[in-house]
Amino acid sequence: MWENCGDFRRLYPEIRDKTLVPADKCFMIYQFARIAGRKEGAFAEVGVYKGGTARLVARACPDKPIHLFDTFAGMPAADGLIDFHKKGDFSDTSLASVQSFLSDCPNACFHPGFFPDTAAAVSGEFFAFVYVDTDIYQSVKDCLDFFYPRMVTGGIMVFDDYEWPYCQGVEKAINNFFADKKEIPVITTRYQCMIFKY
Ligand SMILES: C[S@@+](CC[C@H](N)C(=O)[O-])C[C@H]1O[C@@H](n2cnc3c(N)ncnc32)[C@H](O)[C@@H]1O
Repeated sequence: MWENCGDFRRLYPEIRDKTLVPADKCFMIYQFARIAGRKEGAFAEVGVYKGGTARLVARACPDKPIHLFDTFAGMPAADGLIDFHKKGDFSDTSLASVQSFLSDCPNACFHPGFFPDTAAAVSGEFFAFVYVDTDIYQSVKDCLDFFYPRMVTGGIMVFDDYEWPYCQGVEKAINNFFADKKEIPVITTRYQCMIFKY
């Protein structure tokens, strides 16, 4: 799909070993970030882990501040009835290692700790692009509650794990949230969806 996209082919090898997200999904993230980069508003990612997709977006749109939210110490508490992941998963990372990985990305702003507790620092911002890769029901719901009202018209939210059978909390949080909204989640590629805010 990305054979003719030299910029993505240049960036993807930089992040391949630092992301859990396969190349087809990364290519969609890259494209949506580039589209959103033409709108007013900041960028954000919740669920950074080792920094792979964060670096992809930061490098694709170097003129956009990108706010990066993660505990950088593993998953918070999850609901065992709907969430596959549990507290402490993805703890093999650190704030220092991710800051080092993105040390040549001056547009990256780090917000370590539990989201949405860490969101207060950007409560006055508006957003053009948000990537949510948090795996569990409550975190996805908290991201929607916080970011959706702050998305600019034409802004884009991308969600990982939509309709992935193991992360049923993601689908539940998204479908519940958009049940009474104008927007409809659009499936982009395997287990990923996006919404255009209008
Ligand atoms: C699947 S990983 C993210 C993968 C990453 N985007 C990549 O490129 O590989 C999920 C991350 O979400 C983070 N996370 C989930 N819920 C969170 C919350 N409420 N606050 C902060 N971090 C959270 C976890 O700490 C974990 O690092």
